[in-house]
Amino acid sequence: MGLRRKRHEERAGERAGDSAARGASPTGGHAVELRAVQRRYGRGSTAVHALRGIELALPSGTFTAVMGPSGSGKSTFLQCAAGLDRPTAGTVALGGTVITGMSENKLTELRRTRLGFVFQAFNLLPSLTVEQNVLLPMRLAGLRPDRRRAAEVLDRVGLGDKARRRPGELSGGQQQRVALARALVTAPDVIFADEPTGALDTTTAAEVLGLLRTAVDRSGATVVMVTHDPAAAAYADRVLFLADGLLVDHLDGAPADRIAARMRTLTARAPMGAAA
Ligand SMILES: Nc1ncnc2c1ncn2[C@@H]1O[C@H](COP(=O)(O)OP(=O)(O)O)[C@@H](O)[C@H]1O
Ligand SMILES: [Mg+2]
Repeated sequence: MGLRRKRHEERAGERAGDSAARGASPTGGHAVELRAVQRRYGRGSTAVHALRGIELALPSGTFTAVMGPSGSGKSTFLQCAAGLDRPTAGTVALGGTVITGMSENKLTELRRTRLGFVFQAFNLLPSLTVEQNVLLPMRLAGLRPDRRRAAEVLDRVGLGDKARRRPGELSGGQQQRVALARALVTAPDVIFADEPTGALDTTTAAEVLGLLRTAVDRSGATVVMVTHDPAAAAYADRVLFLADGLLVDHLDGAPADRIAARMRTLTARAPMGAAA
């Protein structure tokens, strides 16, 4: 805990340089802001209210975990916050830019240049090399593929010697580290991760989580991660708890056992009683 707080203090100084390199980073404000966000699926008597009014402002350079019982709205929250889904009501802003109501083209451009994504299922293209996978977001954003940048982020995730391999030749943990390098290559302001360690064993999960933590501490990135694992959530500065489409609680700098205890009280109240 002491170590984390110390890193927190060192962060401010280190961040300045990387932010300048990034250019489009927000000026101190909030990286992610949700105001009165609702998301309803369907209409009338069969409508499902997945999000019922989310109020949230995440400062730049912080690591937030989102937990909650199955069906509480975690994935819907992440999709709305990342501009992959549109709220039924309310507004979402990223780096001070309101994305609600933005055209699909503009939104796609913003996602490609300023956001990074890591999913449980890696989502690497099997026919491309590791380096080509990492460079994909640059190509999609219409930027010149920068092989030195690819080498730099692959080094950062400990895969500097795997650039010419194909994903199928790597272990699960290595594949997720490639996915992380791909998320980092454009130096995004925000990295959204949905169960990034869900398919990994404890040791490789810890490596991936450590790298996310480093992206926050050294590069000033903002990480928002959905997880059902209290040990993973313990890497975050703050854990948010969702229940029935509402943020009901948070814990700051909490160890895994405290997070697990809070989750148990939530799942005990949930209709399905399952945590996922
Ligand atoms: N595309 C959809 N159509 C209808 N209902 C949905 C859809 N996606 C999610 N839901 C419902 O919204 C609620 C929240 O889902 P979700 O965000 O996936 O929760 P979580 O990720 O916490 O399990 C659930 O009741 C789920 O069944
Ligand atoms: Mg989900």
